[in-house]
Amino acid sequence: MSKLKIEGGNLLTGTINISGAKNSAVALLPASLLCFTKSKIYKVPKIRDIEYLLKILKILNCTYEINNDEIEINTKNLKNAPIPEELSEQMRASYYFMGTLLGRFKHVEISFPGGCNIGARPIDLHIKGFEALGATVTKIKNKYIIDAKELIGTRIYLDFASVGATINIMLASTYAKGETIIENAAREPEIVNVASYLISMGCKITGAGTSTIIIEGGKKLDNGVTEVFPDRIEAATYVILGALIGKDLHIKGLIKDHINAVLIKLKDVGASFTVNPGEIIISKCEEVLPTKLVTQVYPGFPTDAQQPFTVLLTQANGTSTITENIYESRFVSANLLKQMGAKTKSQKNILTIKGKTPLKGAKNIEVPDLRGGAALVLAALIAKGTTTLTNISLILRGYEDIVEKLTNVGAKIEIIE
Ligand code: UD1
Repeated sequence: MSKLKIEGGNLLTGTINISGAKNSAVALLPASLLCFTKSKIYKVPKIRDIEYLLKILKILNCTYEINNDEIEINTKNLKNAPIPEELSEQMRASYYFMGTLLGRFKHVEISFPGGCNIGARPIDLHIKGFEALGATVTKIKNKYIIDAKELIGTRIYLDFASVGATINIMLASTYAKGETIIENAAREPEIVNVASYLISMGCKITGAGTSTIIIEGGKKLDNGVTEVFPDRIEAATYVILGALIGKDLHIKGLIKDHINAVLIKLKDVGASFTVNPGEIIISKCEEVLPTKLVTQVYPGFPTDAQQPFTVLLTQANGTSTITENIYESRFVSANLLKQMGAKTKSQKNILTIKGKTPLKGAKNIEVPDLRGGAALVLAALIAKGTTTLTNISLILRGYEDIVEKLTNVGAKIEIIE
């Protein structure tokens, strides 16, 4: 079994280039099925989730050509088929095949999606949305069978501004007759990225990026083309790393506005950085201040960056708290940091971090989830001594070339067998 071996303490200097966003790319690939002949996506990250999605595309009789980070997908011979559980359970985003196959074929068979174990993560809002469009959803054990005679546009109010439900309903409604209005829609950049792809295929969509999205469905779509937005969570992770142990560390190819909430919080805790177009330059923050952090839907502080930020707060002089409002069990990595010397305590959705604590290397810490894994990598990079992490496939699911990117800026990190 592969492990990550990390020796901490090296100041990191040089440039880290940000890849295409995992959470956009995993929605854009399934969205391609809405096209009748072909589509093209630029800047697709080479991560495990994409490998699994491509396997699903093959099952659905699509072909594709990969050229560096570009993927051209041919959907001429697309056929509907049940999506096997061993693939759908590999990642959360397999649920986007519900929206696209329902749109194209009015019939879907798929098992409950997988993904990181960070809370209950129901998909009731997706299902309610499909039902509102006219579908019937039957659940047999772990399997969903979704059918519709036809889909008809309607007004859908989301009880919670869910990223997945917003995108999934948008996907299905492209082939619903008439107008669909999604109210209390999520506003994350991933939604704008998917909407722009659908618009390039010929769908009329307005309001993506706001709380009300209007989709005019029913038109045959084709020839989609888009570029995956830069990964805002990868960018946030490496900017936080810069505040921990950077020396003029350049984080390049990001969209600053997508990580504003994280940058504002970094300033609050005393970090300073330079913003150039598409780039942030950051060095180690010598005196980290404690803070109160609250995760929220976009444009609030992203839950996905909460775990890496926790590592920074272990270095703050004083007590910080993090209130997690999106998921109920997202403090597993924070508790694992105790093995490295951190003083963390979680109670319900509030985490308390007492600093400042020097961190020390630890052996065989099991990565609990993707972003928690990233947090442990950050902790290992500032710790004294050597850390080994197991279950690292969870990190490779979402961070393209993480070992190469960190090695290039001076980190001592390698995958060992
Ligand atoms: C997406 C991201 C994930 C990120 C999250 C919040 C992908 C593949 N994953 O996950 O990295 O952490 O957005 O930014 O893009 N909920 C329901 N019912 C539903 C749907 C969601 O109760 O039908 C709840 C969830 O349990 C969670 C909250 O709503 O508590 C947010 O979920 P959602 O925004 O849907 O996140 P995901 O799309 O799963």
